[in-house]
Amino acid sequence: MSKLIVGNWKMNPPTFSAAEKIARSASAAIRKTGNKAKVVLCPPFIWLASLSGRKYFGLEFGAQDVFWESDGPYTGEVSAAMLKNSGVKYVIVGHSERRRLGETDEIIAKKVKAVIRAGLKPILCVGEDKATRLRGIAAAKKFVKSQLQKDLFGRYSEFCILNSNLVIAYEPLWAISTEKNSRVDTPEDAADMIQFIKDFIETKKCNTKLEVIYGGSVTAANVLHFLVRPEIDGILAGGVSIKRSEFKKIIKLINNAK
Ligand code: PGA
Repeated sequence: MSKLIVGNWKMNPPTFSAAEKIARSASAAIRKTGNKAKVVLCPPFIWLASLSGRKYFGLEFGAQDVFWESDGPYTGEVSAAMLKNSGVKYVIVGHSERRRLGETDEIIAKKVKAVIRAGLKPILCVGEDKATRLRGIAAAKKFVKSQLQKDLFGRYSEFCILNSNLVIAYEPLWAISTEKNSRVDTPEDAADMIQFIKDFIETKKCNTKLEVIYGGSVTAANVLHFLVRPEIDGILAGGVSIKRSEFKKIIKLINNAK
C-alpha cells in the first residue's frame, strides 16, 4: 500500500540516544518490508538536524514548526531555509497544539507560504473541536473550510499553493489521544471529510499535488481501517510514533497491505 506515514514526536523523547533508537527502528522496519509507505519523522528541532543529516534508509524528516521570515533578529526561531539546508523535506504547520498556544490563521498562512517558497512541503493541520463536531458534520465541514480558506487563500498566502506540493492533515481535536475523553474518528467520517477537503481545494484550480491524511488516535489496531479508504492518503501519528514496536508494526502493516 503506497501511503504517507508522518510521525509527530511532539516534545519527545528527552535524549538524543532515545531519538536515534526510534529512527533506527523505523528505518529497520522499512528495510525489512520495503518502502511502499513513505515514512516521515518529525522530531523536535534539537534532534532534527542531526537525525536528518544521518541518512536513515527509507526515512525522510520533517519539522514540527517553522518561522516565516528567512533570517534576522528573531530570537529562538528557525527558518525554512535552515530546515532545507539540513536535509528536511516537510514541515508541520498549524498543529492544533500550536493554535491553542496562540498561533493564528494569519501566522499559519505566512508559515505555509514560507515553507512552499523554500521548496519544502507543508503538512497543514486542520480540524474542528469537540463543540463544533457536536453541532454535526455540516458544522465541522464549515469550520474546516474556513480554516483552509484563511490558511491557504487569504491575504497572507496569496495563492502560494499554485503548482506546489501540499499535505493537509485532517486532525479533529477531539480525536487526539492526549485530549480528555478523546475517541478515534470513524474511517467513514474521516474519509468523508477528507474528500470534502480535496473537493474544496479542487475548486481553487491551483494545480496542487495534494495529499490529505488523517490524524488522531491512530494505532496499529486501527490504521488499516483508515488506509483502505482510497480518499485517505496517509496518517499523522502522534503518540504511537515514539513507541518503537507499535510504529514498526504500523510500517509493516502498510507495506504488507495490498
Ligand atoms: P495522536 O496525536 O496520534 O497521539 O492522537 C496526533 C497528533 O496530534 O499529531
